[in-house]
Amino acid sequence: MSMNRGGRPTSAQGGQTSDHPTFTGNKALQIEEPLIFEVGDVGKTGVDFEEPEAHETRLGGLERQSIGLPGLTEPETMRHYVRISQKNFAIDAGVYPLGSCTMKHNGRLNEKMARLPGFGDVHPLQPQSTVQGALELIDTLAAWLLEMTGMAAVAMSPKAGAHGEFCGMAAIKSAQIAKGDARSVVLVPESAHGTNPATAALLGYKVRDIPAREDGTVSTEAVKEALGPDVAGIMLTNPNTCGLFERDIIAIADAVHEAGAYFYCDGANFNAIVGKAKPGDLGVDCMHINLHKTFSTPHGGGGPGSGPVVFSEAIAPYAPVPYVVRDGDIFSLVETVEAAKGAKPFGRQTAFHGQMGMFVRALSYMMSHGSDGLRQASEDAVLNANYIRAGLRDVMSQPFGDQVCMHEVLFDDSFLKDTGVTTLDFAKAMIDEGFHPMTMYFPLVVHGAMLVEPTESESKAALDQFIATLRDLVKGAKDGDLVRFTGAPHHAPMARLDETRAAREPILRWRPEQPAEAAE
Ligand SMILES: Cc1ncc(COP(=O)(O)O)c(C=O)c1O
Repeated sequence: MSMNRGGRPTSAQGGQTSDHPTFTGNKALQIEEPLIFEVGDVGKTGVDFEEPEAHETRLGGLERQSIGLPGLTEPETMRHYVRISQKNFAIDAGVYPLGSCTMKHNGRLNEKMARLPGFGDVHPLQPQSTVQGALELIDTLAAWLLEMTGMAAVAMSPKAGAHGEFCGMAAIKSAQIAKGDARSVVLVPESAHGTNPATAALLGYKVRDIPAREDGTVSTEAVKEALGPDVAGIMLTNPNTCGLFERDIIAIADAVHEAGAYFYCDGANFNAIVGKAKPGDLGVDCMHINLHKTFSTPHGGGGPGSGPVVFSEAIAPYAPVPYVVRDGDIFSLVETVEAAKGAKPFGRQTAFHGQMGMFVRALSYMMSHGSDGLRQASEDAVLNANYIRAGLRDVMSQPFGDQVCMHEVLFDDSFLKDTGVTTLDFAKAMIDEGFHPMTMYFPLVVHGAMLVEPTESESKAALDQFIATLRDLVKGAKDGDLVRFTGAPHHAPMARLDETRAAREPILRWRPEQPAEAAE
């Protein structure tokens, strides 16, 4: 079968790396998989219906002509997608130390709970009397989140961290407008996740950068200097994106409040402090929590995230609808701004009530851990990151010196200086060794950043193997073993892409291969 890979290099096509090339290009039972367009035939179908009797269509010119979708039999379809899924790397397959993303084990108990028909089969438009259990679950999860954060109210509907940021900042904006004190600027530290300035900009704010001090954290002085009557608030991540605890957080919150502004905390890294510190005690006004990170619900490639937002007393009245209220044993939803008695919700952000499947999984994670287990998970996440730091500090470089980190440890590329190996080469060589690379080139304030987040899921044996592998790679780079890096990955199903070309000339659609003479 000829493979139309549109310039995509693969190890099989680009020359088998093995000394034992095979007739098929397959490597034992690792089967090379073409695109579905390359194996399916238009007109082929997996079902065998009888030809319908002749009939007159009423669609006229609107009747659908063939749009050239490839057809496969059912077994072929099954094999195609199973083989593709086997080329995917996942936390279920190996170490996935993607800093800032918290790729932790998704407990199977959580999956089992989410599939219970009473949760899995509910429809958002069902009468509330028929979904009392589901509403109680949302209410119980909300109570756990409020207890863990020490905050006054929670909006459960946002569907990702970034969505939660928008929710929290929209509530802050409403609070200021209600006070007759609308402001125009939001302070964002340079090391922030890109979603922070994007959220502020989307709400019409100007963004004022706050530089980090020498040790990678934000100082109260820098915040005070940037504050003014035009500042609506600060968006500060704690622990920050360099894996460090913002130790001035209380003084920063005080300064922000004294200036009449509010404190939005990016809580994406809450997994480092659950059970150890409550954001409500630190002066936070709003914070989103990525259930898909801290509470182990699966990350779905931008899919089924969940980013509930907690609010202080000051901001709680502006939290959006819908929310669940309880009257005795009856749960109901406050669905409209008018129905929110005594409050001034900024509006509604989602059509329905949030990601039910993620709520079930997160509560299952919480209840199976218990409060002591959740604290232990935070401690273990921090311990594991520091174990990696201690295992690599003599061979890799840290941008802010060797200091105790939180749940993730940040390296930079200065240890690769003069080796001819870049951060990207180093990360690709990790793939050949069977490790998903760490987060690279983030945070942007650090040159050649490599952010490693092992999470509490990894065993000591896995961490030891990770450390030993990275030490060996560093040695290879310093010994000039460039072949190991520049062409890496050598053993992955797909060889390294030309990333610049992929960005500048993206091939977004498969097209049939042109015969050579037609292309001329
Ligand atoms: C610090 C930080 N803030 C915000 C976000 C955005 O969260 P989400 O991807 O759920 O939108 C992330 C995601 O990685 C993050 O790491």
